[in-house]
Amino acid sequence: MTKKMTVTSIQKTKGEKPLVMVTAYDALFARLLGESADILLVGDSLNMSFSGKKDTLSATMDQMLYHTDAVCSGSPESFVICDMPYGTYTTKEEALANALRVYRETAADAVKIEGGIQKAEIVKHLTSNGIAVCGHIGLLPQFVRFEGGYKVKGKTQQEGVKLIEDARAIEDAGAFCIVIEGVKAEIAAEVAKSVSVPVIGIGAGAGVDGQVLVFSDMLGLFEAFTPKFVKKYLEGAALVKEAMACYKDEVQKRAFPQDIHTY
Ligand code: KIV
Repeated sequence: MTKKMTVTSIQKTKGEKPLVMVTAYDALFARLLGESADILLVGDSLNMSFSGKKDTLSATMDQMLYHTDAVCSGSPESFVICDMPYGTYTTKEEALANALRVYRETAADAVKIEGGIQKAEIVKHLTSNGIAVCGHIGLLPQFVRFEGGYKVKGKTQQEGVKLIEDARAIEDAGAFCIVIEGVKAEIAAEVAKSVSVPVIGIGAGAGVDGQVLVFSDMLGLFEAFTPKFVKKYLEGAALVKEAMACYKDEVQKRAFPQDIHTY
């Protein structure tokens, strides 16, 4: 385990080494993943892969606090970011009240907020009140119903210009890093070059300052669908099912427990 990162050490990685971010939702996986990750993100994607919902929109502040607390307990040496769920930062006052809960009720280091220019004022309000904020631009999962699906961004020059404006507005508002999701690789690389904070990509190619993946996708545990940008580093679902089938078989044959498992 390397030394715990800070907002400053994360910012200093820009141009030096790619940041490794992964989601975690509980203490068990936080401990395992935190050994190699620079940053653990308690993403509201937990609403899909952990709670089984079809999108992230019904995740609540209480849910995020519960999971963030578990992740911080499981990996106290990790830099932890808590996603602000949908509808919890519609006004500056609401955003600050909810972000303060993250700092008061968990040991998280920062919060993440989806949105570019339209959320800059809210990011500024949080950062000026001492809350570290990670931005999130490009494909915004919290807009899935509004946009009628998950739409890749940066397909036109106009969208590219808008993304650069979004990143600069969030940086100017004080965000210490920015997640960029579902963006054409060459545009994402341009965005990364246009700001001085690290830009961490998911489905945004290799030309950015780091990568983030949802852990259950990366470990092959989430079977409902696999986005194009996901690489499975483990066939987790197959391994879990195989182990469970073996356990079932041994219980039914009375091959488990053996003497070594018996008091
Ligand atoms: O909720 C999440 O897991 C995220 C990642 C997709 C970046 O926001």
